[in-house]
Amino acid sequence: MKAKIEVNAKKEVGKVDKRLFGSFIEHLGRAVYGGIYEPTHETADDMGFRGDVMKMVQEMEVPIVRYPGGNFVSGYQWEDGTGPKEKRPKKLELAWNSVETNEVGVDEFQEWAKRANTEVMMAVNLGTRGPQDAANLVEYCNSTTDTYYAAMRKANGFEEPFGFKLWCLGNEMDGPWQICAKTANEYARLACETAKMMKLVDPSIELVACGSSSPTMPTFGDWERTVLRECFEHIDYISLHNYFGNPNDNSAEFLGSSVVMEGFIKSVIAMCDEIAAEKKSEKKINVSFDEWNVWFHSSEQDKKQEPWQIAPPLLEDVYNLEDALVVGSLMITLLKYCDRVKIGCLAQLVNVIAPIMTKTGGGIWAQTIYYPFLLTSKNGRGTVLTTNVVCDKYDAGDIKEIPYVDSVAVMSEDGKQLSVFAINRSLENSAEIEIAIDGIENAKLVSHTVFTGDDLKAINTLDNPNEVMPKEVSVDGTVVLAKQSWNMLIYQL
Ligand code: AHR
Repeated sequence: MKAKIEVNAKKEVGKVDKRLFGSFIEHLGRAVYGGIYEPTHETADDMGFRGDVMKMVQEMEVPIVRYPGGNFVSGYQWEDGTGPKEKRPKKLELAWNSVETNEVGVDEFQEWAKRANTEVMMAVNLGTRGPQDAANLVEYCNSTTDTYYAAMRKANGFEEPFGFKLWCLGNEMDGPWQICAKTANEYARLACETAKMMKLVDPSIELVACGSSSPTMPTFGDWERTVLRECFEHIDYISLHNYFGNPNDNSAEFLGSSVVMEGFIKSVIAMCDEIAAEKKSEKKINVSFDEWNVWFHSSEQDKKQEPWQIAPPLLEDVYNLEDALVVGSLMITLLKYCDRVKIGCLAQLVNVIAPIMTKTGGGIWAQTIYYPFLLTSKNGRGTVLTTNVVCDKYDAGDIKEIPYVDSVAVMSEDGKQLSVFAINRSLENSAEIEIAIDGIENAKLVSHTVFTGDDLKAINTLDNPNEVMPKEVSVDGTVVLAKQSWNMLIYQL
């Protein structure tokens, strides 16, 4: 198969917001307890954070981590996770039928984030709670005033404010599974009034309103328009969530997942602009894709879990090569829309549908999806250049017109490197690529990293952690993208 990748350096798509490489830690399963926090672990630091996990998160250069949920946040009373640990209540956690010990709360998480070189994207509870509690939490985290909640933070040992800049107005409030789910009108009013109060406490914060919890929701579209109309003046972003899976073992279709993601992004951007036009406003509401990943492997095993355990193993998807190819292609799509998609959160970070896996009391390993994330996070910052791919397309399952090859090119901030990310979705044929770079003289291909293999179902495990790894291939001659491969080409400029 032959394909052409045309990069136009004279036509920029936009600057990549580093928050596109964000992730997510929820009080769910072993994400917190046994994940980022395990005081008895041999690598634990003075606050009980696992050092091995911290090191891998630092390596991934995750600039922002959404916290504390997810579905969890809709029943969460944030005060439970503050102050002296011995006084913290142990509670039923209704989102995931677990027991929450509250050993870790916002006090600890903000410190973990600092140590991990990341920032916190904080979510407020708009399920069981509302505007007043959200405003109180902003005061607790961000205020320097001599008032109740700021003083409470100081009394808990944190003189300096946490300074969280980005906040989510609840989570997936359209989902029937959500604690105290809302209709679009109910949520829109609540989000609007909450946003006003939160910004009264700290006008410098940015706010993300909940969009639909997936494009397959029957209310998708109506929900967005209602929320955007009501909250337009008070919010900065609308959220998108989308998980992908291969339950029918149709790899050709699964590898086309990013076509679905792309359609979703385009629709939501169109709705943001539609409501702006309706309001005769120049304001651009941008997009926060704050939950995305592959998620389906663990669904059956999770049904067998007994309720009311502390940190049960939930959503522990074991990822294979094809999942990693999908994750790599989803990142290409996020980059292609970087002019409007400002935030992206790979859901999640540790143990729960995660790139990083741990054994409680034991070792750590990188799942397959770790690698495309790591490489894109490290080499995908700068400015996205218009990238056009000329190639054949195919239909698979419910997805039509899937291009065999997809690609995006990113010029580094210092202008010295051009990174071209590319997927070849063909299960049969490698792709001989002509790469035409318009507007850059003397671009020299210096490395080609390829992530592929014969077995799409190959996985990494604690005992065999390096089974599926990207490798370097020769840069002499024509660029060839192996069949079923994700690739990163680095040009020196
Ligand atoms: O990431 C797992 C869950 O998926 C989150 O808690 C929820 O927001 C979504 O449905």
